[in-house]
Amino acid sequence: ALISMRQLLDHAAENGYGMPAFNVNNMEQVHAIMQAADETNSPVILQGSAGARAYAGEPFLRHLITAATEMYPHIPVAMHQDHGSEPAVCLRSIQSGFTSVMMDGSLEADMKTPASFEYNVGVTKEVVKMAHAGGVSVEGELGCLGSLETGEMGEEDGHGAEGKLDMDMLLTSAEEAADFVKATNVDALAIAIGTSHGAYKFTKEPDGDILRIDRIKEIHERLPNTHLVMHGSSSVPQDWLEIINNYGGDMGQTYGVPVEEIVEGIKNGVAKVNIDTDLRMASTGSIRKFMAENPSVFDPRKFLKESTNAMRQICKARFESFGCEGNASKI
Ligand code: G3H
Ligand code: 13P
Ligand code: NA
Ligand code: ZN
Repeated sequence: ALISMRQLLDHAAENGYGMPAFNVNNMEQVHAIMQAADETNSPVILQGSAGARAYAGEPFLRHLITAATEMYPHIPVAMHQDHGSEPAVCLRSIQSGFTSVMMDGSLEADMKTPASFEYNVGVTKEVVKMAHAGGVSVEGELGCLGSLETGEMGEEDGHGAEGKLDMDMLLTSAEEAADFVKATNVDALAIAIGTSHGAYKFTKEPDGDILRIDRIKEIHERLPNTHLVMHGSSSVPQDWLEIINNYGGDMGQTYGVPVEEIVEGIKNGVAKVNIDTDLRMASTGSIRKFMAENPSVFDPRKFLKESTNAMRQICKARFESFGCEGNASKI
């Protein structure tokens, strides 16, 4: 059944696990996530970005997610709208039945220009008022995550903006986070603590030093009842990167956030972990490999099934590592 993000993350926080939040755009992704959740008895967060809504169309996205709850009635699912650019976007999602919305007021409505703290508080407060009146949860964002727009800042060609992560000023401050939550009453808060969106996060292999665990701790101490969210949390699997490039692909060398670091983040207060890129890579790699090895096949179900299986394995691994296993039936 559909449940609110608040209810789901409260359960996660009380029971010491973190929730992966997977972006979905098509049926195969929804199948993969639900199959993995079913195998591990894990609750689920399915989220749709603006790009997903533009690709599938909001009704298709919404019906794919409700179809998942129909097919797996024993698994709680939060239907979350990712990165809303303005209150009107969130209002439309609330009206169409999403159980959770993100108002990303860290950027102005163009989703490019960094916004002032006052602007962010204003738009987020407006969304919280509407959403809470209908039992819908709200995620806000404070700080600068970077590389939101896929294709911009060199995301697609492998020339990411390295170095931005050293800029301490872009990280979320604990003081500001406390003020922000007090002013807005959000249920969850996306914080900038060393991650960025897309495949091109780091050019060197991380060595346990990606996440600012000190900052997570500091924010969590100030806000023990607000669920901290980590965007840009794909691990950029090296095996899939290799498969993509071995079968005709051309992705640059790049690294993501190691799963062990995410687990450390969860131990220190992170409740929701956003993952999109990992499933994109598994999907692309598995399809490239299958196509190369089976040149006579022209039934798309054959290669889409490969894609589903590849994504399912990643989802299963994340549910297990983040401690979700067994919790679906306990909520
Ligand atoms: O928030 C970023 C997600 O990876 C979604 O990206 O807008 O290309 O679907 P997208
Ligand atoms: P990745 O690009 O690291 O998968 O992050 C996705 C995300 O944060 C969606 O909001
Ligand atoms: Na979100
Ligand atoms: Zn994001």
